[in-house]
Amino acid sequence: AKDAVRVLVTGAAGQIGYALVPMIARGAMLGSDQPVILHMLDIPPAAEALNGVKMELIDAALPLLKGVVATTDVVEACTSVNIAVMVGGFPRKVGMERKDVMSKNVSIYKAQASALEQYAAKDCKVLVVANPANTNALVLKEFAPSIPEKNITCLTRLDHNRALGQISERLNVEVSNVKNVIIWGNHSSTQYPDVNHATVTISTGEKSVRELVADDQWLNGEFIITVQQRGAAIIKARKLSSALSAASAACDHIHDWVLGTPKGTWVSMGVYSDGSYGIPAGLIYSFPVTCANGQWSIVQDLKIDKFSRAKMDATANELIEEKTPGFINGKSEDFLSKRE
Ligand code: NAI
Repeated sequence: AKDAVRVLVTGAAGQIGYALVPMIARGAMLGSDQPVILHMLDIPPAAEALNGVKMELIDAALPLLKGVVATTDVVEACTSVNIAVMVGGFPRKVGMERKDVMSKNVSIYKAQASALEQYAAKDCKVLVVANPANTNALVLKEFAPSIPEKNITCLTRLDHNRALGQISERLNVEVSNVKNVIIWGNHSSTQYPDVNHATVTISTGEKSVRELVADDQWLNGEFIITVQQRGAAIIKARKLSSALSAASAACDHIHDWVLGTPKGTWVSMGVYSDGSYGIPAGLIYSFPVTCANGQWSIVQDLKIDKFSRAKMDATANELIEEKTPGFINGKSEDFLSKRE
């Protein structure tokens, strides 16, 4: 039998955590033959609720689940973990200054970076979900210099899956037959969902999405806006932000990173830019990637038209702005409100 893999979920008593931990314990993240030990971290005010989640995990009698560590101690939470899914963060509360939220998240991600660096397994793979996801991942990277930069990523797979979903609905085809959309850039409303290389498998073979949809106005307009604004639409409908879809996307992200992407298929991941496609090196930016042997690589040499170029640069500029210390002290008022 395989050795158990230790998976950390921070913010595990929250909404996404509640959807995510059973998915992991049922094999959705690492496969149905991979035993797991769940490490769940939350903060002291949520300790009782966290223990309740642990009780439910025990009550679910899950065969793959070989142990549960539920703790408010960041060192205990990070010790020996192979995968770290960082969902915990500080939400903006009524009456709070935006800069307070930003600086709280920066200090959370600094502290958790140090704990991961010192106590996690050497090859630990990190996925940051908490917003601002790209910039939290960058903070984590900068404060955990001994973790290889290739091991620190952020979640844009939810946006990628939302784009697949919109194409599937529009064309009335199964979502599993749609592939190779791209989310470029920031997990915010400046992200650019790109269908220029996307295809759909139909009875006569693989066809381009542009050819099948045959409505560039929709693809260049409403489609992009719908994907960018989907998080806000979910909040409006549910009065709560996306949780099951975010949890599902987090499983997909780690699943494909660890187990590989299917031949001819890429996915979107927020990764440390090496300057590909003229995106400044040193940003955590969402790119199309393929994965093999537990490593992602950015898909190279895709043709980028003028329309795409402008949108890719705009979202890169937003990430540059988020990186500047002045930004964290409060410039753009809707910085947090436009992310879900
Ligand atoms: P939530 O508020 O229900 O849960 C957050 C949990 O984090 C709470 O239990 C809280 O106590 C905990 N927490 C706060 N500070 C912590 C710390 N220092 N250490 C450990 N835990 C801590 O929020 P929800 O809905 O689960 O969302 C979590 C995050 O994910 C938010 O930042 C949200 O904006 C983000 N998000 C990102 C998405 C993406 O695609 N990248 C999609 C949806 C949400």
